[in-house]
Amino acid sequence: MPSFLNIFLFFGLLASLVSAAPRAIQKRSFKVERVRNANFKGHDGPRELLKAYQKYRMDVPPALLDAINNKGKPDSTENVQTKASSQTGKAKGKGRKGGKGAGAAVGGNNGTTAAVGNSTAGVGLVTATPEAGDVEYLSPVEIGGQTLNLDFDSGSSDLWVFNSQLSAKATTGHTVYDPTKSTGFKMINGASFSISYGDGSGAAGNVGTDTVVIGGATVTQQAIELATAVSQSFVSDTANNGLLGLAFSKLNTVKPQQQKTFFDNVMPSLAEPVFTADLRKNAVGAYEFGRIDSAKFTGAMAWIPVNTTQGFWQFATAGFAVGNGTAQTATAAQAIADTGTTLILTSQEIADGYYGQVQGAVNDATVGGVTVPCDATLPDLILDVGGIYQARVKGEDINFAQVQGNTCFGGVQATTSDLQIWGDIFFKSQFVAFNGGNNTLGMAQHV
Ligand SMILES: *[C@@H]1O[C@H](CO)[C@@H](O)[C@H](O)[C@H]1NC(C)=O
Ligand SMILES: *[C@@H]1O[C@H](CO)[C@@H](O)[C@H](O)[C@H]1NC(C)=O
Ligand SMILES: *[C@@H]1O[C@H](CO)[C@@H](O)[C@H](O)[C@H]1NC(C)=O
Ligand SMILES: *[C@@H]1O[C@H](CO)[C@@H](O)[C@H](O)[C@H]1NC(C)=O
Ligand SMILES: *[C@@H]1O[C@H](CO)[C@@H](O)[C@H](O)[C@H]1NC(C)=O
Repeated sequence: MPSFLNIFLFFGLLASLVSAAPRAIQKRSFKVERVRNANFKGHDGPRELLKAYQKYRMDVPPALLDAINNKGKPDSTENVQTKASSQTGKAKGKGRKGGKGAGAAVGGNNGTTAAVGNSTAGVGLVTATPEAGDVEYLSPVEIGGQTLNLDFDSGSSDLWVFNSQLSAKATTGHTVYDPTKSTGFKMINGASFSISYGDGSGAAGNVGTDTVVIGGATVTQQAIELATAVSQSFVSDTANNGLLGLAFSKLNTVKPQQQKTFFDNVMPSLAEPVFTADLRKNAVGAYEFGRIDSAKFTGAMAWIPVNTTQGFWQFATAGFAVGNGTAQTATAAQAIADTGTTLILTSQEIADGYYGQVQGAVNDATVGGVTVPCDATLPDLILDVGGIYQARVKGEDINFAQVQGNTCFGGVQATTSDLQIWGDIFFKSQFVAFNGGNNTLGMAQHV
């Protein structure tokens, strides 16, 4: 069982990281990596591929695990202790008031982020700032008057945050939400959450409600999940103070009473029941609620029906083309639009069809995925969306990250399950509207 052994060696249990809520954690199979790559800088292609496979519980090719295990020297996991969580409910009435008014500008961690918005007009606009290598995008969210930069994830449905229940060690460098300083915070007694993103990252804890403002768009009793345990990869990623899930509410993990996403809650107050993702290559983009800004795309927006059965922004796909070549049919499959994943995971058939047109592209077992020469000019990849829209992914974006020398990790890799995951590299070329009114995805070429 070599691959099981690898998995076991690679991932330790999150249980070792937890002291405040051990029971809640132990009953979930919640894991964290034990061997950390000391050289990891946040734009590691194989690692992003592993994250994507595991977020969706796909089989991980043994070569990929080997490649990651063999890279860098093993590093011991820090022991992240948590404080007792009993303080959360008390100290009402102290501190700042929740929720600034419409149109208020909010500052980010250090002034790199800003938000404008207008809740009276039923819209909210916030920046989406990429972290090094465009691995993830962060946006400022005001919770009970406190601003945190969160990763908006259209592939999950929990809003969880770094907060004052976590120890100083777990929160060093992070901005934390302190529920005791919000007059609007209310604990939901007995509620808990536990979310595992499968790459070993995850969070678990208790739950309350508070006012959440995203660029002016406001929800007064939004469920806020307060982590009492977070995995090391979130601890290390100090710019990221939590996630804001934007998939369908049926994927929310809060028990015993499942909670609605921010988008589901805010939808009735929006000018239009939509949010849009404007994610850019190495530049600040935006998420906008309630409005489709036609200045951000060219041509007509195509509307693709969403298959909601699994709770994702999922659609059919059945073909592709490479560069300006003729369209090729591919086996009919399903794909999801996932802002919380970095790479594009297509079928093996599409990955093979694409890299077959790239001189020097190899499926490199020592790296665990397809690599291309860094100096290659990559052709565009055209992906069929619902038989309605042909999305052109720019070749330059598919040259994802250097592995070493002239070897770069490909931004398109094969999925090992039936579901294709189209992440941030897809969004860099496409402006995407998520329409909760008629469960469609609007897509058009980004300007
Ligand atoms: C918000 O939008 C309304 C309606 O379009 C407008 O009258 C108002 O001036 C706007 N407020 C701000 C602060 O932008
Ligand atoms: C602000 O944060 C960004 C992202 O974390 C970082 O790269 C930058 O150095 C910070 N700037 C200052 C002035 O602290
Ligand atoms: C919707 O998705 C489910 C699960 O992925 C799949 O079984 C089903 O065939 C899809 N429906 C359509 C109409 O494609
Ligand atoms: C391919 O098509 C794109 C978009 O239509 C065009 O801009 C580009 O010049 C074409 N490239 C070649 C090599 O024909
Ligand atoms: C869904 O809504 C959008 C805009 O609100 C509209 O343009 C589109 O035609 C609708 N699509 C369907 C299938 O109803």
